[in-house]
Amino acid sequence: MLVNLRRRFLGQLGAATLSPLLWRNDSTWFLQATPPSRLATDPLRPQYHLLPPANWMNDPNGPIWFNGRYHMFYQYNPHGAFWGSMHWGHATSPDMVHWHHEPLALTPTPGGYDRDGVFSGCVVLDRGVPTLIYTGVEPPATPAEATLRDGSHSWREVQCLAVSHDGLRTWRKLGEPILASPPPGLVVTGFRDPCVWQEGKEWRMALGSGFAGKGGAILLYRSPDLRRWTYLYPLAEGKGTGQPSPNPVDNGEMWECPEFFPLGDRHVLLISTMGKVLWKSGTYAGGQFSPDREGEVDSGAYYAARTMLDRRGQRILWGWIPERRPEAEHRAAGWAGVMSLPRVLSLDSGGQLHMAPAPAIEALRGEHTQIRAGIDSSRRLRTLQIRDLAAEFRIEFLPDSAFLFQLQSRQDDPFLEIAYNPADTGRELRLNGSRFALASTTQAPIVLRPFVDGSVVELFGDNTSAITERVYRAPQTPLRVVVPRTKSLLSLDLWQMRPISTDRLTG
Ligand code: FRU
Repeated sequence: MLVNLRRRFLGQLGAATLSPLLWRNDSTWFLQATPPSRLATDPLRPQYHLLPPANWMNDPNGPIWFNGRYHMFYQYNPHGAFWGSMHWGHATSPDMVHWHHEPLALTPTPGGYDRDGVFSGCVVLDRGVPTLIYTGVEPPATPAEATLRDGSHSWREVQCLAVSHDGLRTWRKLGEPILASPPPGLVVTGFRDPCVWQEGKEWRMALGSGFAGKGGAILLYRSPDLRRWTYLYPLAEGKGTGQPSPNPVDNGEMWECPEFFPLGDRHVLLISTMGKVLWKSGTYAGGQFSPDREGEVDSGAYYAARTMLDRRGQRILWGWIPERRPEAEHRAAGWAGVMSLPRVLSLDSGGQLHMAPAPAIEALRGEHTQIRAGIDSSRRLRTLQIRDLAAEFRIEFLPDSAFLFQLQSRQDDPFLEIAYNPADTGRELRLNGSRFALASTTQAPIVLRPFVDGSVVELFGDNTSAITERVYRAPQTPLRVVVPRTKSLLSLDLWQMRPISTDRLTG
């Protein structure tokens, strides 16, 4: 996934670190090359999604509800809006929606086993003590020691542990990694992104990995104390595409970011590979996971998903919304990467994964307009407009009838188009040309919930499936709503959404 970004990072690190400004947000210092005022007026920068005050972010890491607050960590580069020099950024929230930026949580230790980057991982409570388990990368002492080879880097990946005694703000790392190399005898395509859970009196760890020429795999380990680990066997294995590739993530021979958790009476495994998050659901008994359903978590710009339990015990999904514009553009913008909105996960009776926007997001709803099917619906639709690219819609269409929903500027510039024609494409929708299959099978009305936030659109279909799109167009006028065939429209609700900060720094 990150191969191109990583390659460029090596070449450009020197230039990018020459003259960063130090910018202060509360007690948090973020190295930054772009003045905050530029970010605050950038119409493409989301206003109600979480993203760092500046620079690059990727994967969500270790989200957790702890002592009355939600903590979100994420892969962060303090040197600019490009991948490299991975740190853990940190934000906290009372409600999963309003965020406060905290000081950086984890930085590479100079000369240490994670000197080249603190990669993705998780946070667990070990008898109440917050314990962070992550992947550290360092140069390999010998070529054989390298477990990450993506065509431009060669790194040794080790699994590391740190504990916090001040409410997840600062972390003390162990002197040594807890796993310094893959299991003896296994030649792997990668060795990273631990997902740890408690099982009876013991701990289990799932690690992202794979086998060259075969496919991605998740390695399963056990431990009595989170420090001493024994390899068991692969929790799951898959097939790659068979196409040669310098980066095994690009042909499915390496699975990144495993996430394994109970949901209802089954278990779900998420893995990230080839630019997608895939899910598998099935039974987990006697240490064996037997998946019998699978699919894609999101058909758009969405990667490296992680989950947590919210204060009510619901399983919440978070994902990294990557950029889809040329790197030169996001470097110039001074920010890159967005955290998705929280999504509540569930399984239907057949084991199909469903997701819906978390009700907490409703706290952001501002001015509301509702239009019901009827004589003057076309006239009322023409009066609708959304300001500042910040809106939520709930639109209901008749089942099995074609429809078109568009957002346009006053100059008729298209911003967003959602199209459905069941006669041509069955249960498949199109969002600005990207395909998106509805997971629901009912004959009930189709419910679409697009969330528009700057250059991010997250669209939920029937509160069961999702697609995330990036739209890099900044219209000069408020957007208007166009529904050419109002006959298929049952109702439309529009909420102007409130920003979560006054300056677009979102925290
Ligand atoms: C996924 C990933 C992880 C890794 C992290 C590094 O996007 O490649 O496998 O830990 O990003 O930033």
